[in-house]
Amino acid sequence: MTAEDEDRIRGDSDSLESGSDSADPATDSSLEAVVSRIRERVVPDDAEREALAAAARTLIDRADAAATARCPDADVLQVGSTARDTWISGDRDIDIFVRFPPDLERETLEEYGLEVGHETLPAGHEEFAEHPYVKGNFDGFDVDVVPCFRLESATEIQSAVDRTPFHTRYLNERLDDEITADIRVTKQFCKGIGVYGSDLRTRGFSGYLTELLVCEYGGFRPLLEAASDWNPPVRLDPESHEGKPDSSSVDGSDTAAVQFDDPLVVIDPTDPERNVAAVASAENVARFQHYARDVLESPRESLFEPRDPEPLDAAALRTHLTNRGTTPVAVRFDAPALVEDQLYPQLRKSLSGITSKLDARGFDVFRATTFADDSAVVFVELAVTERPALERHDGPPVHVRSHAEGFFDAYADDPDAYGPFIDGDRYVTEREREFTTATAFLESERLLEAGLGAHVETALEDGYDVLVGDDVTDLLGEFDQELARYYDPRP
Ligand code: UTP
Ligand code: MN
Repeated sequence: MTAEDEDRIRGDSDSLESGSDSADPATDSSLEAVVSRIRERVVPDDAEREALAAAARTLIDRADAAATARCPDADVLQVGSTARDTWISGDRDIDIFVRFPPDLERETLEEYGLEVGHETLPAGHEEFAEHPYVKGNFDGFDVDVVPCFRLESATEIQSAVDRTPFHTRYLNERLDDEITADIRVTKQFCKGIGVYGSDLRTRGFSGYLTELLVCEYGGFRPLLEAASDWNPPVRLDPESHEGKPDSSSVDGSDTAAVQFDDPLVVIDPTDPERNVAAVASAENVARFQHYARDVLESPRESLFEPRDPEPLDAAALRTHLTNRGTTPVAVRFDAPALVEDQLYPQLRKSLSGITSKLDARGFDVFRATTFADDSAVVFVELAVTERPALERHDGPPVHVRSHAEGFFDAYADDPDAYGPFIDGDRYVTEREREFTTATAFLESERLLEAGLGAHVETALEDGYDVLVGDDVTDLLGEFDQELARYYDPRP
């Protein structure tokens, strides 16, 4: 960023404070007025801060006693949004990190980590990320007690959690009350439009990413203005790592620049090799851009609230089916027992495998999605559900002698095929199609060849239903919200 850009950004952020002063703040629809009403809701009051600080103190003391009893060199710190004063009021999780020296065996770290976790949260339970850790409730707060290694630099990390303390230190040096208020507003906006969260179901913006974006652009409004004009791939490098000599480089390259193939790239200030926005999907980046323009154009509080779709009943669903004239087909099976971070990537892979097979077999996919609860569904809306008995099969050009002769010989004696004949310079044959209806394909074992997620494949082997046309109303009890969204699509 040039100094001129920086001036411009600071200038824009100043205009946030100098909002309209004559209008009634309760009904004023300027962005500044909307933002100040959102701020009132998302910035915690003193009582909430005190309750949180007291809980955190107790937890840190307990964890510290348990950790140093096992390893005198261990220390404990609070990380995440409640350590940075950037949590949304009412939305409190306390992240406690227990740091052990890097020469400790990984197994010992995991053992100590769990023991410290249980002593800190006697009613807690174990969960698994890269290290196992303990999760539980304390005084109404959701608490994680996570072990990690204490390193000199985030580039030496052994697992992703080792970076977290560096994030907290980096941001704490840069945040002030104005920026933290704007971070909270931005998080609430991201929640409202459905892009908040770096889990693999959402594939959106993490808390840390949101904080970096607000810091980098200097506030909520300048972030919106910049995002309105983003032209992905967008690359931000807050600490200008790119082009800096990288002393830790092992492959002989002399710069820290790493190529990322993502629509939004925010080089982690604490680790030049990491894109903080790596999980943000192209859809969510585009969605953020859309709503950035929208809220600048017509500021309104409703954009900061997640929208529940209008309920959809069987009659309304049938009306959509009639109006659209397409054919919905649903493959329904028992949802594999996986955590969401594993389930959704597998469902998406299966969706893409199944739709490309349908397309390749001549059943044109109009739109498709996947959703899961107790059952899981690959839902495909087809523009073409039936094909003729024959399919055209193009062979090689006649002049490519060996291939052409092989093709000709293979089909010349096939009594069910028409041809081979010549079209242009190629052999062509018209042969029997394996499936003349999409349903027949979906009900066949061929479905299992469709590039499915491993656990989805196992689930389908155990059995599944294929619902076609009006029968998809059968999904309504379990998936009325999902179907409502499907038939009322919005950005
Ligand atoms: P959290 O998911 O609790 O995020 O992760 P947060 O920043 O506290 O934001 P909210 O307000 O709870 O939504 C805690 C910390 O773990 C690291 C970050 O440093 C984050 O602040 N983290 C988490 C990541 O680096 N990447 C992630 O995808 C998630
Ligand atoms: Mn958090």
